[in-house]
Amino acid sequence: MAELESWEFGKSDFVLLDNLTIEEFLANLKVRFDKNRIYTYIGEVVVSVNPYQHVDLYGRDMIEHYKGRELYERPPHLYAIADSAYKAMKRRAKDTCIVISGESGSGKTEASKYIMQYIAAITNPSQRVEVESVKNILLKSNCVLEAFGNAKTNRNDNSSRFGKYMDINFDFKGDPTGGHINNYLLEKSRVIVQQRGERNFHSFYQLILGGSDDLLKSLYLQRDAKEYAFIRDGATVNSVINDKENFKAVMKAMEIIGFSDKEIDTIYKILATILHLGNLMFIAESDTASISNNDVVSQIADITMTVPDTVRKTLLHRTVATGGGEVIKKGHTVQEAAYGRDAFAKAIYDRLFCWIVNRINDVIEVKGYDPRIHGKNTVIGVLDIYGFEIFENNSFEQFCINYCNEKLQQLFIELILRQEQAEYQREGIEWQHIDYFNNQIIVDLVEQPHKGIIAILDEACMNVGKVTDAMLVDTMDSKLGKHAHYTSRKLCPTEKNMEFNKHFRIKHYAGQVTYSVEGFIDKNKDTLYQDFKRLMYNSSNPVLKDMWPDGKLSITEVTKRPLTAATLFRSSMIALIVNLECKEPYYVRCIKPNEQKSPLIFDYERCRHQVEYLGLLENVRVRRAGFAYRQPYERFLLRYKMICEYTWPNHLMSTDLEATRMIIDQHDFQQDVAYGKTKLFIRTPQTLFGLESAREETIPFIVLFLQKLWRGALARKRCRGMRAVYAIMSYYKTFKVKAYLIEVMKRFQNVRSMSDYGKSVAWPTPPTVLVKFEENMKYLFRRWRARQIVKNIPPSDMPQIKAKIAAMDALLGRRKDWGVQRNWEQDYLSSVRYNPEMMSQFTTTMNGLKGKKQFSSVLFSAHVRKVNRFNKCEDRAILITDQYLYKLEPAKRYKSMKALPLSHVTGISVTNGRDQLIIFHTKANDDLVVCLDKMQRGNDNRIGEVVGVLANHFNRDPDINLLVRVNVEASFELLVKNSVSNSLAIILLAHCEALKDQRSLPRGEYS
Ligand SMILES: Nc1ncnc2c1ncn2[C@@H]1O[C@H](COP(=O)(O)OP(=O)(O)O)[C@@H](O)[C@H]1O
Ligand SMILES: [Mg+2]
Repeated sequence: MAELESWEFGKSDFVLLDNLTIEEFLANLKVRFDKNRIYTYIGEVVVSVNPYQHVDLYGRDMIEHYKGRELYERPPHLYAIADSAYKAMKRRAKDTCIVISGESGSGKTEASKYIMQYIAAITNPSQRVEVESVKNILLKSNCVLEAFGNAKTNRNDNSSRFGKYMDINFDFKGDPTGGHINNYLLEKSRVIVQQRGERNFHSFYQLILGGSDDLLKSLYLQRDAKEYAFIRDGATVNSVINDKENFKAVMKAMEIIGFSDKEIDTIYKILATILHLGNLMFIAESDTASISNNDVVSQIADITMTVPDTVRKTLLHRTVATGGGEVIKKGHTVQEAAYGRDAFAKAIYDRLFCWIVNRINDVIEVKGYDPRIHGKNTVIGVLDIYGFEIFENNSFEQFCINYCNEKLQQLFIELILRQEQAEYQREGIEWQHIDYFNNQIIVDLVEQPHKGIIAILDEACMNVGKVTDAMLVDTMDSKLGKHAHYTSRKLCPTEKNMEFNKHFRIKHYAGQVTYSVEGFIDKNKDTLYQDFKRLMYNSSNPVLKDMWPDGKLSITEVTKRPLTAATLFRSSMIALIVNLECKEPYYVRCIKPNEQKSPLIFDYERCRHQVEYLGLLENVRVRRAGFAYRQPYERFLLRYKMICEYTWPNHLMSTDLEATRMIIDQHDFQQDVAYGKTKLFIRTPQTLFGLESAREETIPFIVLFLQKLWRGALARKRCRGMRAVYAIMSYYKTFKVKAYLIEVMKRFQNVRSMSDYGKSVAWPTPPTVLVKFEENMKYLFRRWRARQIVKNIPPSDMPQIKAKIAAMDALLGRRKDWGVQRNWEQDYLSSVRYNPEMMSQFTTTMNGLKGKKQFSSVLFSAHVRKVNRFNKCEDRAILITDQYLYKLEPAKRYKSMKALPLSHVTGISVTNGRDQLIIFHTKANDDLVVCLDKMQRGNDNRIGEVVGVLANHFNRDPDINLLVRVNVEASFELLVKNSVSNSLAIILLAHCEALKDQRSLPRGEYS
């Protein structure tokens, strides 16, 4: 039960009373009222006492205080019950409704507004624009509905003169998506007459006091309510209501809701029309009526955009269809005309009100809803309907209103008292039956078919002959005389405050009400001459025309008798109850502490009366004996199985009951529950709260657990995919490697027998992995090929081969032609072929040189031409042995002219051309410049041979490095310049010129 409040504020839940008596109940209520604790619980029912003063209970901080909290965590409040209803809807996707009941002025409408504000404040945390707009319209609709549907009565300055049931639709996230308003029986008789001290509907005064000068002028109105018969009495009534301010607020609200200018304009035109209608004066002319102030008729016609003459005719005549299909006009008497006018005024106001409600519904209706996309659409209904009323003079409206309250009480009894007890019995829970007054008998008295008051009333209305109100009382007396809750003066002649043939009395659950039967039949028939409907339908104002679609029918078409007001009301009440029954109900029971609207007076008797008739004591009794919550075991487990290791994820016990017991015992709630046949009953909400918080604590772990599993599953799936990819890749790679190797084998299988040992065979492109492998293979292949080639070379050719290799290293790419294709004979002077005449002379000389042991082998010998410093060309020969470079003179039997030790030769220079010039550089800078192309046959190109032979020779000794220079850039001239002494250079240059002429070589050949 509600905690957090100290004892001085009384008990916050009546269930906690020590002795459950009416005295203690009232004492607690008074203590709390005195301390401004206006809300008290009976379990989940909120008992609210009208404080009649501002109480600081509804700020933003309060909303935060209650938001998302369990009912019993905070002191009693409307916000707590609104939050409960909202949570139930959100958690269990259940439609809920909040039924606010209590007598007129007890604070129902205020309560409904606070509830709406709370729901608006806690929803739509993401501030979605469309949801904000729905919320705004829902809130603003109140202001408009109150202007047109509320009035000051003697019991309440802002009394709702209509019943209102508002559904708010929510999407699966719990945000409002729309709504719908049902309105019930507007007390339209107030339009033409009000009891003393009361006012007409607020809207009229708002227009007169708040409308702009221009607006009033366009409506032919003066800023003085006393000028208008329908609102004249109310104009002098004191009230705290600020009509002028409210006019502005209503205008603003209508704009926000989406009323067009034309519609707003029409609304005020209709109000003006009603005010003008009230001022019409009918006078008798012979036996029919005429109008004395015809200017008013023209004004009405102008405002309603109708034809003045038709307006006048409609007010003074009615069209009647005779039996033969003929139509005649029948003039009204003054009374009939006044009656018609009043009915018309009431009807247009009623239509206006219903039209406004429908218009709001059009705007807030949930549009484009698809349960597959938006999830279950759930509803919270808020019912704020007129409370039980006893006036001095109670008429047809009070009869309907009180009947409505009987129905609601019946619903309360059904849900809270009867069904509850029936369920305990059904479930086998030990239970002491609690007696309560069942008001079904009164409901029957009113609504039973054929026998009930409504049926009798309807019968009287259907009667063709003139049935008077007095005759109605008589019929009721005879038919209902024996009913315990019905009486009249005739049945009880001692009751002096009832008049014969005028009053009847019903003993309602909330008290006795004496109804004056006057006007019952008229109000029930609710006759409006067809001519008025046609008049309105024919208006040129489309909005007005729209409100009167039935005016389209011609007089001869209208045959069916319309349903009576009471029957319509009964049907709407039955429908309302059916609607409420299928929702989870939350109750606010409002109590009015005094008749003086005083914040200080706690009228004991009035409060006792209300507590009694609202059945609050019985409510506490049932509550005390009963259980706050119940749930089938299966559902209970579904919600709470995670808070106990034996039931999560699934229990292994033989029944759900045992599993439930397991959870309850583990959490130590066994004292607070009872086990029914199919359901678990929980006595106090704290237990449920405890279970809920245990659940909330566990859920994050479950979420993590599920996330973990799911992530694992996803990763495994991804891994399988990757593995498959790798398997495919590896098979493919193997295939590529195999295919490559097979191809290589195929291409190279015959290379052994090929003349070039496979040099011409193209290598297939290897897969990337085998690029390195291919390099190695090519290397091996080249080695093998070289081996094959070298293997076949005779040993005698080897020196020549080595020399050629050495020459290649030195000259390849640097000199165009170095005679590699030739057979290098080396010792040309000893060759018969090359030196037939003087070979023997050379041999002799060479043997002589050899005899001096100056060499062991000849590297090169040939005739050359030498240019001397006198520019004379002379034939010479050179002999290069492994020890010396000899310059010989052929003419003197090859006499040695100069012997230069080979070790003194530091380099050789040749050109990059085709000439046979060669320079031997020496340590002493005594370079030897010769040309290899004289005195030999066939102009053999021997430059490469000399370079190769010498390079090869020097290669054997790693310490000696022979520098072979090939002058590419500067050609012969430069070569010479850089390498020989000056005087010699001049000679060489001249000689070169001679050479060029001699060979006619293009100059470019040398550069
Ligand atoms: N919670 C409240 N705080 C302050 N005043 C209230 C409260 N509830 C009701 N009243 C006062 O009582 C008046 C009547 O309340 P209302 O809700 O219109 O009664 P009902 O709808 O039951 O006839 C309000 O106009 C307001 O002055
Ligand atoms: Mg109200």
